[in-house]
Amino acid sequence: MNNNLVSYSSLFFNIPKENFPKCLVGKWKNSAVHSESTIHQISPYIGKMKSTMAHEIIATFTRENDVIYDPFCGSGTIAFEAWKLNRNIIANDLSIYAYVITHAKLFPYLSLKKAFDEINAAAKQAKMFIPSVDLRKIPQWVRLFFNSKTLRETIAWSQILLSKESYFILSSLLGILHHQRPGFLSYPSSHTVPYLREKKYPRNLYPELYQYRPVQERLEKKIERILKRVPELNPKLKRQCLMRNASDFIPNQKVNAIITSPPYMRQLDYGRDNRLRLWFLGEKNWKSLDNIISPHESDFLKLFKSCLKTWQNILLPNGLCILVVGDTYSRQYKMKLPDVIVRMATKEVGGYSMIYKYTELIPNDRRVRRGCNGSLTETILVFRKD
Ligand SMILES: C[S@@+](CC[C@H](N)C(=O)[O-])C[C@H]1O[C@@H](n2cnc3c(N)ncnc32)[C@H](O)[C@@H]1O
Repeated sequence: MNNNLVSYSSLFFNIPKENFPKCLVGKWKNSAVHSESTIHQISPYIGKMKSTMAHEIIATFTRENDVIYDPFCGSGTIAFEAWKLNRNIIANDLSIYAYVITHAKLFPYLSLKKAFDEINAAAKQAKMFIPSVDLRKIPQWVRLFFNSKTLRETIAWSQILLSKESYFILSSLLGILHHQRPGFLSYPSSHTVPYLREKKYPRNLYPELYQYRPVQERLEKKIERILKRVPELNPKLKRQCLMRNASDFIPNQKVNAIITSPPYMRQLDYGRDNRLRLWFLGEKNWKSLDNIISPHESDFLKLFKSCLKTWQNILLPNGLCILVVGDTYSRQYKMKLPDVIVRMATKEVGGYSMIYKYTELIPNDRRVRRGCNGSLTETILVFRKD
């Protein structure tokens, strides 16, 4: 573990000066799965931030009632933790899948009864919709994942929920879309990224895994799991969820802090890896989406420069810009990404001072792929608008 302090000011932080910068060291080492709110587990997202890390960053660097903006919100981890900690939140992501999950986390049903009433209403509409679903119009790669009766039903449910903007139930449906467990809808496949596991579970040996799976009972069980651990949440706080390009989007109010983890240099493919869920949301062309939301190096560098310029107009005076980035290497700059960002923010774009830099090893079980194991470390960079 490398605790790397460059210079600091304790002006904005909820921590005594003598404890700074140790405040974040090792705070999110252990698994959060059994302690975090189960709302975080509504649907998987590759590259998701650990909720305990989001919590510590928000608690350390911001205050109650502050307005926080996450321009690359992904599955809304920062957004939900911010709300939980009584902050106002503006969350944004260009992917409709990210938008739908984040919206669900910011506007959840907090009682099973309300959620089940909504499910019953949607069930009636889905039943009427099913006969009009023509599987011949569905691409083969999607059909390969499902029993045809389950697929027809799942399409009907997703269309109805999408048209009603019922994003909490829709996200729950996406959360059970593919896996091999009995509570899921697909043929045996992986959970986060959609790959069929027909070799491991051949049809002749596991016929039950290929049978029809009714949607409603699985959806209800999923909602029960999601609402198992829900913290107290203040409905009066401002929560906004948007689907805009972060490079030039300016929210309608200034913010105390921008806290985000950007899509660093094509280490992950947010379109490809979510392709099946995106398809059910009406996004049929994940390849062209990836060209925008999973940018390669030079596009990423351009995007980030323009974000830093835009964010100058969004941050309140002395506002903080907090970025969590991996150690990907930039060939163009011949440096690691955190150093590139420091140079951009303080020199090339300018207008920001770096007040904190902290690097921690990513444990093996949390590392994500791309041939090798992806980033070995994660760095938290804290800048203050000059
Ligand atoms: C590292 S992920 C964020 C993960 C998030 N912190 C979480 O916990 O789930 C980066 C996100 O940036 C989004 N994205 C990429 N380019 C974007 C752009 N130009 N504007 C808005 N969002 C973008 C991607 O869709 C992806 O969800």
